[in-house]
Amino acid sequence: MTGTRATSEAARPIGAGHIEKLIDEFAALSEPGTGVTRLGYSALEREAHAVFARELSALGLTVWTDTAGNTVAELPGRVEGAPAIGTGSHLDSVPQAGRFDGIAGVCAAIEAARAVVSSGWRPRATWRFVAFAAEEGARFGQACNGSRAAAGIVSPPQLDALADAHGVTMTEAMRAVGLEPGRIAESRWNSEEWLAFIELHIEQGTVLEASDTVIGVVDAISGSTRLLVRLDGVASHTGGTPMHQRQDALVAAAECVLLCERVATDATHHGTRVTVGRLDVHPGSITTIPGRVAFTIDVRDFDSARQRRTAHLLDDRFRQICAERGVGIDTTIIGDTSPVILPVDLVDTIVRAARDLDLPYRLLSSGASHDSQQISRITRTGMIFVPSVGGLSHVPEETTSFADIARGTDVLVRAMAAVDAEWGALA
Ligand code: GLV
Ligand code: MN
Ligand code: MN
Repeated sequence: MTGTRATSEAARPIGAGHIEKLIDEFAALSEPGTGVTRLGYSALEREAHAVFARELSALGLTVWTDTAGNTVAELPGRVEGAPAIGTGSHLDSVPQAGRFDGIAGVCAAIEAARAVVSSGWRPRATWRFVAFAAEEGARFGQACNGSRAAAGIVSPPQLDALADAHGVTMTEAMRAVGLEPGRIAESRWNSEEWLAFIELHIEQGTVLEASDTVIGVVDAISGSTRLLVRLDGVASHTGGTPMHQRQDALVAAAECVLLCERVATDATHHGTRVTVGRLDVHPGSITTIPGRVAFTIDVRDFDSARQRRTAHLLDDRFRQICAERGVGIDTTIIGDTSPVILPVDLVDTIVRAARDLDLPYRLLSSGASHDSQQISRITRTGMIFVPSVGGLSHVPEETTSFADIARGTDVLVRAMAAVDAEWGALA
């Protein structure tokens, strides 16, 4: 079979109906309350992985879950022992999330598998469909634990060192849902077994919508450095303590928060994004001066040196602010991921797939982190974005049209088939 024929036979149009049903089923697996809450290494996340496993087992694929909690389904190719072409994304969410972040890419993987199996066409290479565990850094700080384990950069002491807001370490959370953190090294993927990985994801921004484009071809993924900052002041009576005698941890924190915005918007930080997303105030009483405050800093950048420099600069300046106010400070790095440039040949493959399907496309960069960022340590990695309505994400209002996910999945299958054909031509 020629490369072109292989590509077109694998790529039959994907219907939006199945995707909608799956998105609804995953969304129902949530803690009660607003939006979807299905945190990494929770029982609900495991239930979502079971749905993924059920769907792919029903298609006749071999399915397993590794020690990090990633679920993988394999469709063997026509060539025995052939390397793998993969796709997938994550099934966990931030608190009070929408229904699409990560899930769209997992549904695309399921529908890609369904399309290939039902077409009767068999790839030459092995195709793998993946649901990664614990991608969101919202619970433990460090994002992408499952894909970092697949990349071979997670060790058991790191899992002990990260804890959620309730003090539960990642090790404890993993054990509680039946995983094996002590054996996390076994989740490492072997580069030699891989040809390429392509992830579909919602854009989480407005570039596609604003340009009336259906397909985003990602050329770079932003990095992030995350800090947990603890300030120690003196709690005391709000009526009895004169203003000049205070060591108010929250007022010091407020100066720090404003500094973050000033630094991120100065002339030397074009494109840097700094956010304080969590701020816990103790004791949290209307009549007590805040004695302790803990807050998080998320520094995102496409320039890896500037990302780390900015985190250092903020830490230094926070110390000055606290010294002037007689407030103690302790800073811990809880997450650190470098930006990556995605390989141009896979960008080209995805562009060609969009063109062949007559879908409007454009190149863009990802401000958010993704599992693909980690998988790019193992194999050539590409990303396909589909539009986010109003650019909203990490909120219950997050929306992407099912038809756009289906179109993105068409591009995904076509791009995977093109990689398969290229490899077949060389093998
Ligand atoms: C992942 O959603 C991130 O926080 O970038
Ligand atoms: Mn995501
Ligand atoms: Mn996310």
